[in-house]
Amino acid sequence: MSDLDVYQGAVRTSNAKVHGPEAFEGMRKAGRIAAECLDVLYPLVQPGAITDDIDKVAREFILDHGAYPACLFYRGYAKTVCISPNHVVCHGIPGQRALRDGDIINIDVTAIADGWHGDTSRMYGVGEIAPRARRLIDVTYESMLRGINAVRPGATVGDIGHAIQSYVEAQRCSVVRDFCGHGLGQVFHDSPNILHFGRPGEGPALKAGMFFTVEPMVNLGKYQVKLLSDGWTAVTRDKSLSAQFEHSVAVTETGFEIFTHSLNGLDKPPLIGGV
Ligand code: MF3
Ligand code: CO
Ligand code: CO
Repeated sequence: MSDLDVYQGAVRTSNAKVHGPEAFEGMRKAGRIAAECLDVLYPLVQPGAITDDIDKVAREFILDHGAYPACLFYRGYAKTVCISPNHVVCHGIPGQRALRDGDIINIDVTAIADGWHGDTSRMYGVGEIAPRARRLIDVTYESMLRGINAVRPGATVGDIGHAIQSYVEAQRCSVVRDFCGHGLGQVFHDSPNILHFGRPGEGPALKAGMFFTVEPMVNLGKYQVKLLSDGWTAVTRDKSLSAQFEHSVAVTETGFEIFTHSLNGLDKPPLIGGV
């Protein structure tokens, strides 16, 4: 046994942490703030909106709620949220880009409240979107739900990945390999890694009290990604559209609890067009 096995505080450990009731309360509060932030951003996602303005609203919202944006100054990142349009897979940096009719964007927000992290992202449509864009968003959301539905004590990380991958590939889409979900709690990116592909029964077993994200990135084309020279923005190599949803979840005695539900029915924001 190492010191890290005993000290279960705010350091990344190689083993996944198991948490008690007070930690659940902390995660509910952090998750609620992150989810409410995404609710507040929903009406701002319009043609002509500047992504940096959306970032500022998110920052103010989080600070006004007594929380802190986990991404701000995280490993040199200088914004509150990630905004990833179209073929951007993840970690798009808000800037002077104006949203255009037909864009699809992911907004990813992480808030720290009383030391606990709430990490969640959703897809939004800008104006009217194409049928293939809506299909990708639908497939991605459903894949996240299937992954979360595999969460229960005794299941493995591979069960989650398999539930996601088998569904996504049956829909003739692909699962990004280079980014994964992660343990979280008092640490932003902790063990275990939650791969969104895998085989049933493989990987670490889940125990009640573990917290982690499920955040599949799904491409209409091939799964390969490349990193742009800003060191953050990941895009699909084949320029195909990419989508992502993310919830923060716990393993409970009977299954799972989702910490980042919208209280306004916006877990999957309504899309215009594409039917
Ligand atoms: N929120 C992202 C995740 O789901 C991490 C973003 S890190 C940042 O893990 F620095 F790019 F913001
Ligand atoms: Co995450
Ligand atoms: Co996130």
